[in-house]
Amino acid sequence: MGLEYFAVTSAAGAKSDDAEKKSDSCNGDSLQSMPLLTPYQLGRFQLSHRIVLAPLTRCRAYNALPQPHAAIYYAQRTTPGCLLISEATGISESASGYPCTPGIWSQEQIEAWKPVVKAVHDKGGYFFCQIWHAGRVSHTAPVSSTNKRIRHGKVTLPSGKEQADYSTPRALTTEEIPQYVQQFRIAARNAIEAGFDGVDIHGGHGYLVDQFLKDGVNDRTDKYGGSIENRCRFAMEVVEAVAKEIGSSRLGIRISPFADFADATDSDPVALGVQFATSLNKYNLLYMHCVEPRMKAAGEIETDQSSWPIRKAYKNSFSVGGGFTRADGNEAIRSGKADRVEFGRLFPANPDFVKRFALGAPLNKYKREFFYTQDPVIGYTNYPFLEQQNLQEDLKNLKDLNLKAS
Ligand SMILES: Cc1cc2nc3c(=O)[nH]c(=O)nc-3n(C[C@H](O)[C@H](O)[C@H](O)COP(=O)(O)O)c2cc1C
Repeated sequence: MGLEYFAVTSAAGAKSDDAEKKSDSCNGDSLQSMPLLTPYQLGRFQLSHRIVLAPLTRCRAYNALPQPHAAIYYAQRTTPGCLLISEATGISESASGYPCTPGIWSQEQIEAWKPVVKAVHDKGGYFFCQIWHAGRVSHTAPVSSTNKRIRHGKVTLPSGKEQADYSTPRALTTEEIPQYVQQFRIAARNAIEAGFDGVDIHGGHGYLVDQFLKDGVNDRTDKYGGSIENRCRFAMEVVEAVAKEIGSSRLGIRISPFADFADATDSDPVALGVQFATSLNKYNLLYMHCVEPRMKAAGEIETDQSSWPIRKAYKNSFSVGGGFTRADGNEAIRSGKADRVEFGRLFPANPDFVKRFALGAPLNKYKREFFYTQDPVIGYTNYPFLEQQNLQEDLKNLKDLNLKAS
């Protein structure tokens, strides 16, 4: 698998993307110069390449149940030996901050995920379930590390149309925190029952775990607040509980220390990330991933800091995401900055993203207006594959020739 797959597809040749040509062309490059397309052994998972589908909330899981169209969407993006990470999936009824996001706390949800996971497995992919609790990023009786409300931005109401201010959260008491740890544990067990190959804990982007990590949010005076070690405690308890339940070799976690989404800022993101990675080392997880500071998808700031010190502090497999192109994705692998690179916005817009990457073919542009809509097809499963586009172009050329000839 892997190199052979790409050797076959690369032989077909393709046009290069003009927009990216200067900095990002891989046309004519050897596979060695495309480190993202080299195989990688991630624990028991034999990956054929290092391009990962980043977790992406798509808001198309009606009543918190994954739908048949999710099976089509994920299968379209599956290549043999790939790694896909699911959209953030709620650990309890109160966990979700957005309309139509899936859950994994009930038997009905487990059953609904099964055909989605199977669709990915049938095409030879590995599939991890990202589990989350949105915490105060919500409008209904949210819980958090703090009583402070999010000041910037609005929350989208369940209708998916109207927006409102975020509600004021209730800070979890020290005594009730273990219940939330347990919810993560059970959700992880459910994900494995649904057939997922592993679980990814969402520790970033201003959601519950991040609300404990960041000193711009966490104002606690108990053992979960204050020092970085204390702020990492909730995350580590979740990691420990989930690892005990499903095994550390099936578990990864994502953090975004540099991001300020949902007012979750930290005064020293590098120190936080390094301490987090150091604490995580003892649990021997399958991987950790970190969102780079330059990710601007959700309004984050661009800084000159990077996850490099965090990568150095972490002893197991490490991936990065956030604003990567072909060129700097390859460079991240080549330089040892990461073992894999996650692609977010471009991947939904390009169901055959990996193939296009291998060929140096043009990429479809993503349409932001469809990121979070509830349509089961538009902006979801209807982005064209390369062959469809080429066919359309051939037909157009043929038509032009016929017109000229007549
Ligand atoms: C529509 C959308 C939904 C997202 N949903 C999630 C999510 O559920 N979980 C998560 O960890 N990150 C989420 N992210 C962040 C992405 O995983 C990724 O880090 C981000 O898009 C930056 O990568 P990119 O520059 O390749 O797009 C989302 C981003 C977008 C644009």
